[in-house]
Amino acid sequence: MKRVTVPAVRKRKGGEPLVMLTAYTVRTAQLFDPHCDLLLVGDSLGQVIYGLPSTVPVSLEMMAAHGAAVVRGSYHAMVVVDMPFGSYETSPEKAFESAAWLLKQTGAAGVKLEGGVAMAPTVQFLVERGIPVMGHVGLTPQAVNMLGGYGARGRTQEEAAKIIDDGQAIARAGAFSLVVEGVIEPIAIELTRSIDCPTIGIGASAQCDGQVLVAEDMLGMFERVPRFVKRYGDMAGYISERAEAYANEVRSRAFPGVEQVYQPK
Ligand code: KIV
Ligand code: NA
Repeated sequence: MKRVTVPAVRKRKGGEPLVMLTAYTVRTAQLFDPHCDLLLVGDSLGQVIYGLPSTVPVSLEMMAAHGAAVVRGSYHAMVVVDMPFGSYETSPEKAFESAAWLLKQTGAAGVKLEGGVAMAPTVQFLVERGIPVMGHVGLTPQAVNMLGGYGARGRTQEEAAKIIDDGQAIARAGAFSLVVEGVIEPIAIELTRSIDCPTIGIGASAQCDGQVLVAEDMLGMFERVPRFVKRYGDMAGYISERAEAYANEVRSRAFPGVEQVYQPK
């Protein structure tokens, strides 16, 4: 099956909502691929896979390793890889080098980077040179040290106006889609209506042009999740119960059973 393309994503503006999930591994990519338009190799893997305190320490090499695995595990969805903190901010040229390296290492179709007005020239630079860019505005986790936490954005008029400006600048610069994260709903709706590039909400609004969640949050792998996460399962409970069952059978010598051991022919 042919993969979802940039023009196909753009065409979904105002239409059937775009479905995106994060994937970091080959097996989750295989399982999510038939159901998703886009798979995001998010730098959230820093916390989810590596137990880091934020996305700030994530490296380009980590993104490349997981990005390649997700591309290998998918056939249909467009794969987008997050550019990690420090790999793109200093100049458009630096961003191009990092993004081109990521695409070569992984085979992904595009990159995502965080930021608004200040990053717009960088987005334009990449897009004009053939690299599809997904933007990310509102709550931008790489800026956690500036923002002071992960609370919703846009509650003051000044903050709301900045989010709109940021999103419009990234759309004008040529981004093919825009993640709008942790923004009060009226601002997410206003931004969605004011740009012709599809918005993908997370903690934003059902009126965005698509939605994304961190897969492990959605699957119930964690005890604590942000308010905007809906848990569609209890993977943590499922996995720990199976681990307990296995441990009990090992201790009682019920495992391995006759089916699992080799005998001489
Ligand atoms: O890193 C990530 O998972 C993300 C999504 C939550 C949008 O950026
Ligand atoms: Na991210």
